[in-house]
Amino acid sequence: MNIETLEKNIGEKGYLDIEVDPSLDIFEEIEKLKKEKNAVVLAHYYQEGDIQDVADYIGDSLGLAQQAEKTNADMIVFAGVHFMAETAKILNPAKKVVLPDLSAGCSLADSAPPELFKKFLDKHPNHVVISYINCSAGIKALSDIICTSSNAPYIVESVPKDQPIIFAPDKNLGAYLIKKTGRDMLLWNGACMVHEIFSLEKIMKLKVRYPQAKIVAHPECEEHILKVADYVGSTTGILKFTQKDEGKEYIVATETGILHQMQKLSPDKVFIPAPPNNSCACNDCPYMKLNTLEKLYLCMKYEQPEILMEEELRLAAKKPIDRMLEISARHGL
Ligand code: 13P
Ligand code: SF4
Repeated sequence: MNIETLEKNIGEKGYLDIEVDPSLDIFEEIEKLKKEKNAVVLAHYYQEGDIQDVADYIGDSLGLAQQAEKTNADMIVFAGVHFMAETAKILNPAKKVVLPDLSAGCSLADSAPPELFKKFLDKHPNHVVISYINCSAGIKALSDIICTSSNAPYIVESVPKDQPIIFAPDKNLGAYLIKKTGRDMLLWNGACMVHEIFSLEKIMKLKVRYPQAKIVAHPECEEHILKVADYVGSTTGILKFTQKDEGKEYIVATETGILHQMQKLSPDKVFIPAPPNNSCACNDCPYMKLNTLEKLYLCMKYEQPEILMEEELRLAAKKPIDRMLEISARHGL
């Protein structure tokens, strides 16, 4: 199939709609394609279990950016959401970066449209702009430093004390950092739809049933959830905590995909997803879960949909990411 036919097939849907032979061993085919194309599969912890199982590297946003920066592969197959694949492309202009489904966006990234953010910055000059990596390349290009949930306190503390800071787009992570670092920051009013769904009341009821269970939470959660958490950290941080901790039961206040690795790394422990404040499975990220093993296989095979970016935007967005990577390396992250 030529590129025009493939692009037409992807169309508005954002993914290749090609039937996959049901008798095919997709796991084996993906391994073959990795070798044939010198491709690497990078997956976020929120991906479905099968995708995590075929990945060459599974990590949080910082780990994935670091892997993307140092890979020798010719093609990066990004099993995550759009801003993550975009970051990989920003760091690797010469490599092909493919995403199984271009519609795998992020409610947090969507909460900060670059035009509005630019107006906000114009209203508040002389601020250093720290943006959480969960944002578009357009927001990154308007920022001074990027951070992730793993390195955010170090990034905030790297800014001189008398320097006013704008933090975007996550108001919950921003509020958590204000408390943790003691630095006042002007916050953009964005949030993650998944991390704002947890019900404190239902979590406390679970605590009655599992009194020994420790609550672990991602800093994108709201303050009332973080207040009752025994540990707050990035997905990698939470995973490591549950591995090292002597406890046996955990109530997990982040996206449910992380439970796959938790259970694999600590088979004898019990992991309970923190319940949402309604009856749907809303602590599954609807964007992350748009990627499927079939879509991953197709995007590797046909090398589409591909992430492409204007060079001017890429260079502007790269600067604050490079600063983040430098600061992280200085702190041994
Ligand atoms: P981390 O990968 O930094 O833990 O962030 C979680 C998240 O929401 C990614 O979209
Ligand atoms: Fe975005 Fe939240 Fe999904 Fe992460 S979990 S990709 S922050 S919507």
